[in-house]
Amino acid sequence: MAKQGCWSLLKGGIVAEFTGVVEILLMVVVSVYSSKAMEIRVDNVSLQPFTAKEWRSHQDKSIDKVIRINRVVFIAVVYLSLVNLIQVRKKKVSFKVTYSNGTAAEGALILILQTKSGFPFGCGMNHYIVTDEAYRQWFASRFKVTSFTNEMKWYSTEKTQGVENYTVADAMVNFAEQNGISIRGHNVFWDNRVMQPKWVKDLPPAELMKAATRRLNSVVSRYAGRLIGWDVMNENLHFRFFEDKLGENASSMFYSMAYHLDPSTTLFMNEYNTIENSKDHTATACKYKEELEKILSFPGNAGLKAAIGLEGHFRDPKPNIAFMRSALDILGTMGLPIWLTEVDVGGGPDQAHNLEDILREGYSHPAVEGIIIFGGPIAAGFKCMTLANYDFEPTPVGEVVDKLINEWKSGRRQVRTDSRGMSEILLFHGDYRVKVSHPLINSSMSINFKVTKETENITVLLQFDA
Ligand SMILES: *[C@@H]1O[C@H](CO)[C@@H](O)[C@H](O)[C@H]1NC(C)=O
Ligand SMILES: *[C@@H]1O[C@H](CO)[C@@H](O)[C@H](O)[C@H]1NC(C)=O
Ligand SMILES: *[C@@H]1O[C@H](CO)[C@@H](O)[C@H](O)[C@H]1NC(C)=O
Ligand SMILES: *[C@@H]1O[C@H](CO)[C@@H](O)[C@H](O)[C@H]1NC(C)=O
Ligand SMILES: *[C@@H]1O[C@H](CO)[C@@H](O)[C@H](O)[C@H]1NC(C)=O
Ligand SMILES: *[C@@H]1O[C@H](CO)[C@@H](O)[C@H](O)[C@H]1NC(C)=O
Repeated sequence: MAKQGCWSLLKGGIVAEFTGVVEILLMVVVSVYSSKAMEIRVDNVSLQPFTAKEWRSHQDKSIDKVIRINRVVFIAVVYLSLVNLIQVRKKKVSFKVTYSNGTAAEGALILILQTKSGFPFGCGMNHYIVTDEAYRQWFASRFKVTSFTNEMKWYSTEKTQGVENYTVADAMVNFAEQNGISIRGHNVFWDNRVMQPKWVKDLPPAELMKAATRRLNSVVSRYAGRLIGWDVMNENLHFRFFEDKLGENASSMFYSMAYHLDPSTTLFMNEYNTIENSKDHTATACKYKEELEKILSFPGNAGLKAAIGLEGHFRDPKPNIAFMRSALDILGTMGLPIWLTEVDVGGGPDQAHNLEDILREGYSHPAVEGIIIFGGPIAAGFKCMTLANYDFEPTPVGEVVDKLINEWKSGRRQVRTDSRGMSEILLFHGDYRVKVSHPLINSSMSINFKVTKETENITVLLQFDA
């Protein structure tokens, strides 16, 4: 969205799967709110072509190391080349090993084992996890982050007014905690009228306010300290059930209440079509940013830990990855964590391939701090994005997921020190255990350390005792 009185960068992308001569039309849509004369200047339009291979190589470079990224601009009214120094998913780690007398130990063997991934790449789960042992094993052996598809929602926990039932949600939380799986809470409220419990839909405003306050207090305090995030008002760009009943500040008010009840948990907005559908103008990145800024500027919300949730229900036969990147770039300027929260891709022959493109784009974007896909085994009813068949063998889509889980971790590595007793290696963010031994010395030592985005250069110093 161009702003008045300054130059604005407008960008986006198109994917062309054909060869030939084309004309590209740049259309400027102007909403006129005043009768004053308006002048629009266009400074520079540039179009940059990329092959699929070039795009992929850019993603891979972004994951790897310190590089200079020239922001990709497809069509731009003002061409800006933003040069960022970023380290997206990996970090260089140096080891220095010495003997007990302090001299450098050449030829020491360093065994590196990644014990935990630093990037949350998770999967949604549903109530079948409570009873289906094969589903439990399938899930726990792959994922360390989740959100529940429906089981925490108001319509699930309070079907009848005043009768709360958290049996299923509690059992799912217990399963996750027993298996070291973090949970994004989904959701406290949903702004869509159709998705309210039946008895809520026609409550008069004062009654709705009372019922909603009870709901928020109940679910947020029940799981306080046990969740890594909450979708407080789901889809409040597409819908406005609570705004219509309780006033324009309804969302901001509920975020404020959740924040004061559970101040340490990250609170998300959560929307669809912001990255996945360029034709839906209801929830563009600019509108998303505006709504989140409104919530954060509401009195009392200044200290709120906010994050951006983007659902990612891709349905076009071919996802527009350039559009996805431009939306992520715009939201990235807010400096808040971005999560892709419910990624799934419509069926068809390209489903696996499309999912891979989308996940690689999300993972290689520096502002994205987590990805949750919404899929699972057919035995648990995941019909849109089925990851495993009735025998829990991976489908082609499931194979893509397993491949990326393996690709995005350092696993087990081994290096030897040089004549300075030094060795360097590029490692994915995460938790590590290292064991060092030396052929001349009859002892070994182990240490644990973390590689994170925040830490500067990491040097691990190791000295043999004897
Ligand atoms: C637009 O800007 C880019 C980057 O500064 C430059 O390379 C290009 O020549 C400019 N194009 C025009 C038509 O001025
Ligand atoms: C230190 O210890 C190592 C291993 O025992 C030995 O090879 C080296 O010569 C020693 N260096 C000095 C300066 O004593
Ligand atoms: C709560 O829900 C569970 C699971 O659906 C059900 O088995 C149980 O009977 C319910 N409890 C009450 C008190 O209704
Ligand atoms: C919403 O809150 C803002 C403060 O952030 C206030 O200025 C405004 O009057 C409120 N609007 C309504 C309709 O209550
Ligand atoms: C190495 O240490 C182990 C246990 O401390 C001991 O049993 C073994 O004899 C030692 N070997 C040598 C070659 O010193
Ligand atoms: C980190 O490493 C880079 C290159 O290896 C170096 O230029 C920089 O000074 C180091 N920073 C710190 C804080 O040691």
